[in-house]
Amino acid sequence: MVMFKKTPEGAKTSQSSQGYSDKLLEHLPKLSDLLKREPVAVERLVAEAIKVKGVRRILSELDKVLKGLGDVALDLLSSLAIGRHVLIMGPVGVGKTTLAETIAEILSISDPPYIEVACHSHMTATELTGDIDIAVALQAGLDHPLAFIPGPLVMAHGKILILDEINRLNPYSQAALLQALQEHYVYIRGFRIRSDFLVIATSNPAEYSGVYELSEALADRMKVIEIMFPDKEVLKGILEWKSNNLLEHLGVKVPDFLTEITTTFVSLLVQDANIEVGPSIRSAIYALANSVSRAWIEGREPSINDLKMELLENMVSTVRGNFSSEQEKREYLLKKFEEALIVAKRTYKR
Ligand SMILES: Nc1ncnc2c1ncn2[C@@H]1O[C@H](COP(=O)(O)OP(=O)(O)OP(=O)(O)O)[C@@H](O)[C@H]1O
Ligand SMILES: [Mg+2]
Repeated sequence: MVMFKKTPEGAKTSQSSQGYSDKLLEHLPKLSDLLKREPVAVERLVAEAIKVKGVRRILSELDKVLKGLGDVALDLLSSLAIGRHVLIMGPVGVGKTTLAETIAEILSISDPPYIEVACHSHMTATELTGDIDIAVALQAGLDHPLAFIPGPLVMAHGKILILDEINRLNPYSQAALLQALQEHYVYIRGFRIRSDFLVIATSNPAEYSGVYELSEALADRMKVIEIMFPDKEVLKGILEWKSNNLLEHLGVKVPDFLTEITTTFVSLLVQDANIEVGPSIRSAIYALANSVSRAWIEGREPSINDLKMELLENMVSTVRGNFSSEQEKREYLLKKFEEALIVAKRTYKR
């Protein structure tokens, strides 16, 4: 709770901190201003941004961050342009969050270009909508900038709202979101605040445990766009590019053979029926780069053994599947690594 005591006569207040807090308060919206909001056609802003930038330029900017997601991006843009919310689904670490953020940044329909919420299961509806602080309102009036702290559903007016991992939202928060989507108004203790936004949500598929089902009514309002795990060729390109980025300032590069083994290993696991949650691209990038930085620290060339250690350590804790113990999982992954090594050697000889 914030207290609003008047500064006692003669008490010293630092001029700069006073100025800073005044500036901060100036930037916070007042409830009376929020109640006067006009509707915003966010889809028009998106369409205009697409027209001005041009699809080709948007895709080439995206390509600097993510590879192989051009078609998915076109799907995403075409939905946003007609005011349809989007839900990006896909396994762990395939670029869902990065895609949502990068597209919103490239479009830049507002300042800031988007509002993002990292959804979690304990998120309350008022965390999404914002709430009136009764104590502040009583002391300083309802229109004091700190009397109403707007939540992301209110802040997102005229913007893109990224709801990262929306499937973690509990049913109460989902209901608050649904109401805002349906009615274009957010209700706060009887006050009705206009809020027009376009959602880009991300989610893992249902088989990932520890998450809620998305309500049918909410899912029905979103176009579901799936990101699939990339094929081997694209995956190799991503691993090479991103791990070399991580190593650039060390002045070392990933040997191509290690990238080949990692790509083969990851691809084998992704196709494996015994594995429920396979390795992510993110963890593969880091394991590969780390095997090289480990050798760099010791002033030697990276070896297949360095890679094996890194990949196994990393994957034992992230990969999930049909195993009765961690030891069994470790042995299984080791077997898969040896298999990947044989396949990679064969590919290399060709
Ligand atoms: N297609 C791709 N091109 C380039 N890099 C990629 C691609 N897919 C994933 N990555 C890399 O993997 C990282 C993880 O991406 P991101 O966090 O966006 O994935 P996510 O699907 O949101 O993961 P999570 O399911 O864990 O939330 C990115 O920072 C990027 O380096
Ligand atoms: Mg994510």
